[in-house]
Amino acid sequence: ASSIGAGPPQGSRPAAVHRAVRPRRNRRADWARRLVRENLLGVDDLIWPLFVVSGTGVREPVASMPGVVRHSVDEAVKAVQEAASLGIPAVALFPYTDPSLRDETGSEALNADNLVCRACRAVKDRVPEIGIVTDVALDPYTSHGHDGLMENGRILNDETVEVLVRQALVQANAGCDVIAPSDMMDGRVGAIREALEAEGLIDTQIMAYTAKYASGFYGPFRDAVGSSATLSGDKRTYQMDYGNSDEAIREAEADIAEGADMIMVKPGMPYLDILHRLKQTFGMPTYAYQVSGEYAMLCAAFERGWLDRERCVPEALTAFKRAGADGVLTYFAVEVARALNDA
Ligand code: PBG
Repeated sequence: ASSIGAGPPQGSRPAAVHRAVRPRRNRRADWARRLVRENLLGVDDLIWPLFVVSGTGVREPVASMPGVVRHSVDEAVKAVQEAASLGIPAVALFPYTDPSLRDETGSEALNADNLVCRACRAVKDRVPEIGIVTDVALDPYTSHGHDGLMENGRILNDETVEVLVRQALVQANAGCDVIAPSDMMDGRVGAIREALEAEGLIDTQIMAYTAKYASGFYGPFRDAVGSSATLSGDKRTYQMDYGNSDEAIREAEADIAEGADMIMVKPGMPYLDILHRLKQTFGMPTYAYQVSGEYAMLCAAFERGWLDRERCVPEALTAFKRAGADGVLTYFAVEVARALNDA
């Protein structure tokens, strides 16, 4: 009978047993644990999403994301400079568009001088060594908060793709390195790729939001970009159903055939199985997005003292590596990079 924790009886030793297999040998000392460790999170795995707002000298807190702010372009440049000095390879820029600039068709998305384009140009100019990822989708620009054009309550696919192509070209011309279509319209990766080639923008990468699920975990992000108050209905006619896994394979097949250079799974932690399957099946550069709701959830527990931040953040991020991710989009990127640099 086992008596865990009871220890041997006083004055005697446990009967000798011969255990050839003792996994604990490799865990005994720090040097041994380091020597057998299979997956390691490094600064090179991090992509930092950051929010941009108009004005100068602005650092506006996002209530549902403690520690996250919306930066005016000048502040964003400073923040990106720090990220680059820590060795973070890329940032993902998301605009908070002034409500007065939002309309039914998201026309501000096509303005070559819109906020995200201004941010791209400023960052490229001042921090040329860092990679810039920008989102292609209409939700920061539409008055209804959807990622596409809406007609009688329906999100139009092919008409939206035409607009997304123009949006992608505007961003690529502003200096963005990686176009990240997050809209989940059918055929958009191929259409964007074709247009980039036709314009001679052959080096612009596409990171497809391949398996993007209709998720409750995006709530705080929608606060950050100001689309939560206006969003009518939900995004279930274009984002994936969380009951599905095979469908992610079909989405990835399409995105890769259409010219994606990298694929992504989103949200992150609740979808590690999908991440693992896609990496195993396709062997593509594959990324996870630890989304706003995951960030908020962890921060809420840290604030209450229920979880230990220094332990849980690297553990959560290393899980993505273990599942097969080549990198992670995370709002924790800067603090993790600092910790990794100090270690
Ligand atoms: C926009 C977009 C969203 C996120 C990234 N791009 C929100 C959405 O689809 O509603 C979510 C990111 C996050 O929650 O951190 N299409």
